[in-house]
Amino acid sequence: MPISYNEKNKIFKLDTSDSSYIFEIYEANFLVHLYYGAKIPDDNVSNMKFRDNLPAFNPSDPDVMDITFTADLSPLEYSGEGAGDYRVSPLAIKNSDGNDVTDVRYVSHKIYDGKPEIPGLPSLYLNDISEAQTLEIKTEDKTTGAVVTLIYTVFSNQPVITRSVIIENTSDKPFEIERVFSTCVDYPTSEYKMLDLYGRWLKERTLQTHKLIHGIQSVSSKRGVNGHCHNPFAALVSLDANEEYGEAYGYNLVYSGNYSIDVEVDSWGTTRFIMGINPEGFGWKLDPGEKFYSPEAVMVYSNKGIGEMSRAFHRLYRKNLICGEWRDKKRPLLINSWEAAYFDFDDDKLVSFASEAKKLGIEMLVMDDGWFGKRDDDTSSLGDWYVNENKLKGGLGSLIERINALGMKFGIWYEPEMISPDSDLFRAHPDWYLHVPNRKSSLGRHQYILDMSRKDVRDNIFDQMYSVLSKYNIEYLKWDFNRNLTEAGSALLPKENQKEIFHRFILGTYELLGRIRDTFPKLLIEGCSGGGGRFDPAMLSFTPQIWCSDETDPIERLTIQFGTSLCYPDLTMGAHVSACDRTGLETRANVALWGTFGYELDPNKLTDEDRKEVKREIACFNKYYDLIHGGDLYRLINPTDNLFRCAWEFVSPDKKEALVTVVTMRRPESRVLILKLKGLDPEKYYIDEDSGEKYSGALLMNAGINLTETAFRDGESVLKHFIEA
Ligand code: DGJ
Repeated sequence: MPISYNEKNKIFKLDTSDSSYIFEIYEANFLVHLYYGAKIPDDNVSNMKFRDNLPAFNPSDPDVMDITFTADLSPLEYSGEGAGDYRVSPLAIKNSDGNDVTDVRYVSHKIYDGKPEIPGLPSLYLNDISEAQTLEIKTEDKTTGAVVTLIYTVFSNQPVITRSVIIENTSDKPFEIERVFSTCVDYPTSEYKMLDLYGRWLKERTLQTHKLIHGIQSVSSKRGVNGHCHNPFAALVSLDANEEYGEAYGYNLVYSGNYSIDVEVDSWGTTRFIMGINPEGFGWKLDPGEKFYSPEAVMVYSNKGIGEMSRAFHRLYRKNLICGEWRDKKRPLLINSWEAAYFDFDDDKLVSFASEAKKLGIEMLVMDDGWFGKRDDDTSSLGDWYVNENKLKGGLGSLIERINALGMKFGIWYEPEMISPDSDLFRAHPDWYLHVPNRKSSLGRHQYILDMSRKDVRDNIFDQMYSVLSKYNIEYLKWDFNRNLTEAGSALLPKENQKEIFHRFILGTYELLGRIRDTFPKLLIEGCSGGGGRFDPAMLSFTPQIWCSDETDPIERLTIQFGTSLCYPDLTMGAHVSACDRTGLETRANVALWGTFGYELDPNKLTDEDRKEVKREIACFNKYYDLIHGGDLYRLINPTDNLFRCAWEFVSPDKKEALVTVVTMRRPESRVLILKLKGLDPEKYYIDEDSGEKYSGALLMNAGINLTETAFRDGESVLKHFIEA
């Protein structure tokens, strides 16, 4: 059983495939954390209490007999504000007396098979109830009547624990939740490096690594979405950890709104990790009898290095996050009109793209921004989701019929959460956007953001989308989002609830996304936010793939895709070959093969030689699809550490096949490149498909493959395929 409770010593033990997570009920019903790390068989681990016994200046609960115990010096499972634990706290509730002292203690617990859903929020799912067990710990703050339930789901065959929190107001007065984090884990030391993914537009999810220091280090967003600047992912890894070796604790929040990951090293050198909704700008009034549900935190443990942590995330998200038929079905090979035409297209131009693309072996044409209202640039029409017949003469129906007649599928672009001030929708409903009274609203890309907390707004957008999606043969939808939130207020919410708007906005977005996904289960939805500004596991539960970045230069893409792969699987990363001329087509394709693969260029402009090359690339896409998207990723050369090259490898689960890609970013100092492969079976023999040479897995992993002089110049790349002899 993954979860056990030892009545005698009051210890909870949560065992995943590779990790154990242990805590106890201590005096005065404090929940004291004992251990999180590699799997251990013992259940008597009381001796693992890690705390200093220097209680000076650290006040304590008078009911605790142990005079060395203080909340501040103890590893606590979950902890409130203002009652003696001075570290970053996961919980603060402002009560009806006006103070926010919060102190929750254990009351009861239950253990059951399976995993609960979180109302209104996406979360991991099980394919079979036997995949996981759940522990619910009921804690209570007696003064406020806040019942805080800590939920732990423990996966038996994966190194995964998920956590979330429910707050219920059992008193007869309202209170305000000021902060509620989804997870809190205390570590006995600070001997860790923190890995996180920073960036900006055109440079999303770039890996940075730094040693923990005393004080608080954090990554967060106040943008209303997680944004381009940081991702809701972080890992703590042992100081000696690398791709192959060492401990890695990966954390990812299943949430698309404002989040915060705070890591505090205290004066005693212990570390607290918390992750959840960003308390800045957040508040939630909870009336008597109401419940609040936090988003889900995913925790993955590996003691076989950072690479294995990533592979565990990939397997988990492929199997327990991405839903619907597109989880397992081969994704269509598409060509997107954006970089080929921007707003400058009509029906004939799109048909010409489709017709040329078809000859190359492409399966779907995606019509990007510019098909609706009177949109010829980005200054108008968001919210007017009816076709611009000046551009598409004969309307959508005729265009789609022409494209389908070529044997091509058709996809479409929407930005459902946005409204242009110059739109019929805005003129009809001037209070439907997010705004606050007596203050002018900022514009981003000439647009406002719809108040997604409002049902009337969502219903209108749903109805408009429904009338298009249900009428025509549309098989793919790109769901874009091109600005961050400002002046976030809702015309409908009472004053005392205005701080809820950021979270209500995201709940509204999920409701609309869920309605579209469930009404059109065959539709493939690709998420997007000015590239990868909303790349998170919550979005992935609605949109099985997300446009990774507006940066389509293959060299710049390397750090983006490399960072993204820390926790997101390859098939979630939207990646296209564009017209960028920094490298030849081959390297652009070799980089895009890491992700969903597709094209974003004008196929009419390809030379005969290009066409031959594109056909070869498409043959590669088809040949390697299962290996890449069903295989395990091994990162071989990290482009954020190495100035010259980047390399990665996919190995099939049965280890019979491997595909290695090397890209040269800058001409290296030396032509010599001996690349050691990873993840092969040392006992098996493999044939190098290019040369026909046979090598043992042991040789390829220990001595390496000699790629000297291959892909030596800037922007060159090489793809090597090995198959079991
Ligand atoms: C931003 C996206 O990232 C692009 O791919 C494109 O869809 C534009 N928006 C359209 O406005």
